Amino acid sequence: MMSLSTTMAMVMMTSNSSSSDGAMMARSCSYAAILVALAAGVVALLGGVNVWVYEHRGLGRERRRRLPPGDLGWPVMGNMWAFLRAFKSDDPDSFIGSFVKRYKRTGIYKAFMFGSPTIMLTTPETCKQVLMDDERFVPGWPKATVELVGKKSFIGISQEEHKRLRKLTSTPINGYEALSTYLKFIEKTVVSTLDRWSEMGQIEFLTELRRLTFRIIMHIFLSSETDSVIGDLERVYTDLNYGMRAMAINLPGFAYHRALKARKVLVRVLQSILDDRRALRSKIPSQAEKDMMDNLMDVEGEMGRKLTDEEIIDTLIMYLNAGHESSGHITMWATVFLQAHPEVYRKAKKEQEDIQRNMPPTQAGLTLKEVRKMEYLSKVIDETLRMVNISFVAFRQATTDVNINGYLVPKGWKIQMWYRSVHMDPHVYPNPKEFNPSRWDGFVPKAGTFLPFGGGSRLCPGNELAKLEISVFLHYFLLDYELNRLSPQCSVRYLPHPRPKDNCMATITKVPRTSM
Ligand code: HEM
Repeated sequence: MMSLSTTMAMVMMTSNSSSSDGAMMARSCSYAAILVALAAGVVALLGGVNVWVYEHRGLGRERRRRLPPGDLGWPVMGNMWAFLRAFKSDDPDSFIGSFVKRYKRTGIYKAFMFGSPTIMLTTPETCKQVLMDDERFVPGWPKATVELVGKKSFIGISQEEHKRLRKLTSTPINGYEALSTYLKFIEKTVVSTLDRWSEMGQIEFLTELRRLTFRIIMHIFLSSETDSVIGDLERVYTDLNYGMRAMAINLPGFAYHRALKARKVLVRVLQSILDDRRALRSKIPSQAEKDMMDNLMDVEGEMGRKLTDEEIIDTLIMYLNAGHESSGHITMWATVFLQAHPEVYRKAKKEQEDIQRNMPPTQAGLTLKEVRKMEYLSKVIDETLRMVNISFVAFRQATTDVNINGYLVPKGWKIQMWYRSVHMDPHVYPNPKEFNPSRWDGFVPKAGTFLPFGGGSRLCPGNELAKLEISVFLHYFLLDYELNRLSPQCSVRYLPHPRPKDNCMATITKVPRTSM
């Protein structure tokens, strides 16, 4: 049995030890509190660096006060982590959503993106104001993107040069006569390609479609190139594209590094094609058939100035890229949506069957007249463009202080027009995540509410060509084929463009035509 004194001693010891434990605990608590306070201080300090540099020092008190709501994130990274996190999740809209939640639906927010202080515009009215004002807003793509597309491409040259080169290149692509001519090539290529795919078993549907649209744009720009050159170039473009929206980290293993290498290859190949073309033209001066490379070589500016090789090559790099990536992706999504919505599929198929049936018996294939009759299909394509948002954002830069919605857009700051947010805004498109081509019945979008091809002087010069390619493809697909995806629930990657992670592994099956 324990004596009272022993018990007392033990109690004393316990109480002694607990009082020293208590003191230790109190000490460690206060260390922890200091550490937390320090960490909070560091966080607050770091969080304030961009504000200090770009707002306090950059703008001064009065101009700073008029900035829109928002936050400039962390030094160097700005809001990029949040952006990348959202676009690597299955909810890319959560990025802008977090600004709307925190600062209300002002349609204009400040942020720090791609290394620059930025004003983000997310409503039709704010985007429209920028698109229609070429004097106060010029292209403002991240430096890294300009490095990839080219300093002499449309996003790097002066407004004057842009106007001249655009005029030269857009009519031969998008004009009525040009489209009628390309229609034949597109049709022939689509028919033979669908037939080939149906015998290939499983294919990466997206990859194959990108090859198809690349073949078409190559025909327009570099008509004489062989299949092997086309195949090689297309593969290089895949690397270039993956680097477009990536962080500009030029180190081995990073997408941007691979993209820069891809650009070097493209420049080399296009330079040798240009040299060969020049040599050929010196031997056979006047060719009957001219493609866009010939046009670019022939163009003369003020005082007879011809384009330099760098200008021709950068224009080609830009057009060949813009001219196949987006069309390939949209064609894939339109096919996927059609196949996933049986009612829409049936209606679209019936329209194409009617068009086919009503064609004059002596007519060999489609003409623009039939394409213009594809009213329902056109709604399917518009709805796909709205939902998919291939170009989810476009970049500009303010040349002077501008007032938008009562807020200051400071001179020199970058501007991002979030086309995606406009298209996914329930105030503009009720139930925006629903694929519903019938929402376009009798609906004419107000200016600024439908921007899949941008707007103003930078409106996509290939919009009509793209819609033609997609329509012709879907016409033949709906008449004769079915798409069966290997994993219909496959998750979607949103960067650089929305695509199923498996590039839409699928089979294309020929189905017997229903008797008409
Ligand atoms: C579905 C297909 C397409 C979509 C969704 C699309 C989308 C866009 C968008 C949104 C812009 C404007 C970017 C801005 O505001 O700065 C643009 C510009 C451009 N697009 Fe397209 N595009 C498509 C197809 C094409 C095709 C087929 C071509 C080539 C034939 C093309 C060539 C270009 C060029 C060169 C520009 C730059 C225009 C300029 O800065 O003046 N695009 N495209």
